[in-house]
Amino acid sequence: MRIIRINQEICTRCGQCLSQCSSRLLSFSEKEEGSKNSTKLIFKDPTNSCSLCGHCLAVCPTEAIEYDKGDPCFTSAAILDPKHYSYDNILEILRARRSIRQYHAKAVSREDIKAILEAMRYAPSASNEQNWEYLILTDSKQIQEFSQKVLNMIRLTYKLVSNSLINTLFLWGPTRKLARDPSFLFSMKNLLNRADRGEDPIFFKAPCIILLHSPIYGNLAGNDAGIALTHGMLAARSLGLGTCWIGIAQETMQRIGKFNRWLGIPKGRTVWGMFTLGHPKESFQRAPPREPLRIVWK
Ligand SMILES: Cc1cc2nc3c(=O)[nH]c(=O)nc-3n(C[C@H](O)[C@H](O)[C@H](O)COP(=O)(O)O)c2cc1C
Repeated sequence: MRIIRINQEICTRCGQCLSQCSSRLLSFSEKEEGSKNSTKLIFKDPTNSCSLCGHCLAVCPTEAIEYDKGDPCFTSAAILDPKHYSYDNILEILRARRSIRQYHAKAVSREDIKAILEAMRYAPSASNEQNWEYLILTDSKQIQEFSQKVLNMIRLTYKLVSNSLINTLFLWGPTRKLARDPSFLFSMKNLLNRADRGEDPIFFKAPCIILLHSPIYGNLAGNDAGIALTHGMLAARSLGLGTCWIGIAQETMQRIGKFNRWLGIPKGRTVWGMFTLGHPKESFQRAPPREPLRIVWK
């Protein structure tokens, strides 16, 4: 999206776009000699600092700001009326999403995958970066191989941390503490036992994985990724599909660079997260309880 021109004929000089522009790139010029309007709306961006957030277009009552319409604006009842969906509706949707760990072998249609990715496009991002790229894995052999690679790393880690000599000589601080945590060791062993029994404890034999990668920009790329993936998981739920964020594979990929190469992810990009996607075998009767809120009001 790029601003091309301002149609001075239909601009009402309401000034709403000025206050929407967080970089203050829009302004009113002084009255022009002979002009019927008292002022002119101008867009000046000498340092190319427009984040292309599009708020000026979105707020304009007369569509006076013209832009290249590769991806057009659109409107809907929910955009025009923030109360179109009630709080109860939204809370219901949020409560109804579950992490799904049992899937039918049935493939997810490309149409559904595209619909999920479309919902992810509308996630907010720091400075409107939208730097996300997606890798969609649907080849069951490749997913199995991926799972095996993650398991191999877990196997190696388990061997190392359960060796008391290595533990004492080479691990320190939080890593040593973690390596001595019985519940951490138990969950690693548990995953390995399940794999030995022929299960896929990493991706649960899901027919699809949606993986998000982007470059590091500032400290916020991981946050942006988390929001986009959450959009996707909620959208998937609305299509009757199940998802589960797979942090264990994400952590492995972030530590071991060759995984990125194996998946063909370009250099300089970080995998910020991924979720499994498939037709759920399981259904739930209720939302589980959550921790109480911890709040300080000031
Ligand atoms: C960042 C993140 C990483 C996660 N990693 C895993 C994982 O590696 N394996 C897994 O089975 N579940 C994973 N989960 C799912 C959580 O265990 C799950 O969200 C949590 O238990 C709450 O259950 P719910 O999603 O059904 O509400 C992860 C979730 C998040 C948000």
